[in-house]
Amino acid sequence: MRFLILSDIHANWEALEAVSADAATRGFDLVLCLGDVVGYGPNPNEVAEWVTNHADVVVRGNHDRACTYVGNHDSFHPIAQHSSTWTREQLLPCHSDWLAQLPRGPLQVDNFDLVHGAPDDEDRYLFDSEEAAASIRYAAEQVTFFGHTHVQGGFVARRLHGTTEVSRFHKVPAQLALEWDSLYLLNPGSVGQPRDGDPRAAYCIYEAHKSVAHFYRVDYDIRTAQEKIFEAGLPEELAYRLATGR
Ligand SMILES: [Fe+2]
Repeated sequence: MRFLILSDIHANWEALEAVSADAATRGFDLVLCLGDVVGYGPNPNEVAEWVTNHADVVVRGNHDRACTYVGNHDSFHPIAQHSSTWTREQLLPCHSDWLAQLPRGPLQVDNFDLVHGAPDDEDRYLFDSEEAAASIRYAAEQVTFFGHTHVQGGFVARRLHGTTEVSRFHKVPAQLALEWDSLYLLNPGSVGQPRDGDPRAAYCIYEAHKSVAHFYRVDYDIRTAQEKIFEAGLPEELAYRLATGR
């Protein structure tokens, strides 16, 4: 079984289109989404409709909650607050209702788990190996896919001399063959707002039967996505960061 794993699409239609087309050439059986379908981007309805129609399993993200009143956005940066207020006004009731009922992770699929932030907290960011080490003890499966940080890659935990060492993939492997005696937290990266210095849209295909994860990056029409952000009156920083991937 080949799983297409998407995260943090953030209402970026151009990025989602490019990822969908690229993934179609590689082949997959099911589509899994790690949350933050909306927020920041200018196409929340189009993206929510695509995910509704194509994704087999979806966990909720913090922006999905904030954009549908399930969660408040008081802790958000002012730019994120602006975009979630705008998204609330734009979302059609059918999409808002669908987003509001999305389940919290972890959700088990096959022999791995899906979360938005971390195994122990859907809102926790896993940026470094210390944070990952504190969280991986709560992982119920050998492999947990997470999003939230918008950084492609993740962490591996290996048993060495009686202790567990957690390390981050500093260079994301194009193809990662999992070792049977290690634990993994894997991030497909963000489709719609990468923050790892590479502005290309990110995604992952996981071959569960072979225990192999493939990480991909795809060029997309950033200029059009930026113009839509300007036209919508969303904060301009949201457009500029698409070009830098920061
Ligand atoms: Fe996000």
